[in-house]
Amino acid sequence: MKILITGGAGFIGSHVVRRFVNSYANYAIYNLDALTYAGNLENLRDVENRPNYTFIKGDIVDEAFINKLFKTYHFDGVIHLAAESHVDRSIADPLAFVRTNVIGTVNLLNAARNAWGADFLGKRFYHISTDEVYGSLGSEGLFTEETPYDPNSPYSASKASSDHFVRAYGETYGLPYVITNCSNNYGPNHFPEKLIPLFINNIIEKKPLPVYGDGKYTRDWLFVEDHAMAIDLVFHKGKNHQTYNIGGFNEWQNIELVKLLCNLMDKKLGRLKGKSEELITYVKDRPGHDLRYAIDATKINKELGWKPSVTFEEGLERTIDWFLNNKEWLNHVTSGEYQKYYKKMYN
Ligand code: NAD
Ligand code: DAU
Repeated sequence: MKILITGGAGFIGSHVVRRFVNSYANYAIYNLDALTYAGNLENLRDVENRPNYTFIKGDIVDEAFINKLFKTYHFDGVIHLAAESHVDRSIADPLAFVRTNVIGTVNLLNAARNAWGADFLGKRFYHISTDEVYGSLGSEGLFTEETPYDPNSPYSASKASSDHFVRAYGETYGLPYVITNCSNNYGPNHFPEKLIPLFINNIIEKKPLPVYGDGKYTRDWLFVEDHAMAIDLVFHKGKNHQTYNIGGFNEWQNIELVKLLCNLMDKKLGRLKGKSEELITYVKDRPGHDLRYAIDATKINKELGWKPSVTFEEGLERTIDWFLNNKEWLNHVTSGEYQKYYKKMYN
């Protein structure tokens, strides 16, 4: 099988690439990534010389390039993760999200359709999406695959739009697709603009921990390797023209999560208990901030037997250890452009 993985140099994509390269020696894995600020080939040092792995630098928005790529390589499957993924950046620059998340996805759909013709046998287009397309929950209930789309941020609106295009290509042209909508991931290689890695980095550096609003927003956290495991299962065993929700069964209010992180980090860094909590600083809220996300992952559990394998305690500990043991990675990604972004967002 020849598989195109887009966005493979990013956070989740790098874990998916690693899993596929390590698990399927007989597949050819092509990682297509534009290497934006979020893409980092250091994430894949351990697999970069494997015979079943090829990196291709390129932009999914470039229609001619994408069409040529599909004609050259004859992919059997696509696992599409490339995206602009940070809600705060989408509030500052929505068009960048329309370009990559909507136009980029439609370019890939067209290229797959053109390359595959009417013969879809053995072909699959797998689109990776998010629980944010369902909007916000109140204090009760869970997102199921039947929850109506109700996106609130430019990011989630662009992801919802791309999901609709994927479905439309299935209905209109018969393209064999599958979509998964996942909750918040965390783990090694997470770019330090998102809550958990940003706060780990700030605790290390004894910088303020900027909690938005009252901190009572809730997210459902999943260890990234468990997401990669789910992606592997759905790619191989999921049914065509279906959506599967993926979640951690693991809801945390931001402020409770931040306090847990502070306690764990105090222990790891040999600081007095309570020291890092002193860094917590309540700041202006994110506009349109969704109150609560929580996933009902019954379908993927019942149909494909998936459930998270890593407890939150274990996952957080592994994540913190990874960041403490990979200071060079952290230094590289937090230099240069990152400093400008940080000043603009938080000063
Ligand atoms: P990320 O921002 O860490 O990585 C995105 C990758 O896409 C980067 O390597 C970047 O260089 C690449 N990319 C961006 N624009 C591109 C373009 N125009 N052409 C080619 N490559 C481009 O994102 P992530 O957190 O790893 O998320 C991956 C996917 O999973 C996204 O589709 C996201 O919506 C989805 N998702 C993320 C989460 C989460 O918690 N992070 C949860 C659910 C779903
Ligand atoms: O739910 C899945 C989504 O999770 C993915 O689709 C997105 O790609 C991913 O970025 C993530 O979105 P969130 O907005 O939930 O993640 P983020 O880490 O940005 O924020 C998590 C919570 O923490 C949210 O309630 C906002 C809050 N927060 C975040 C930052 C960066 C803060 O309080 N302070 C901060 O500095």
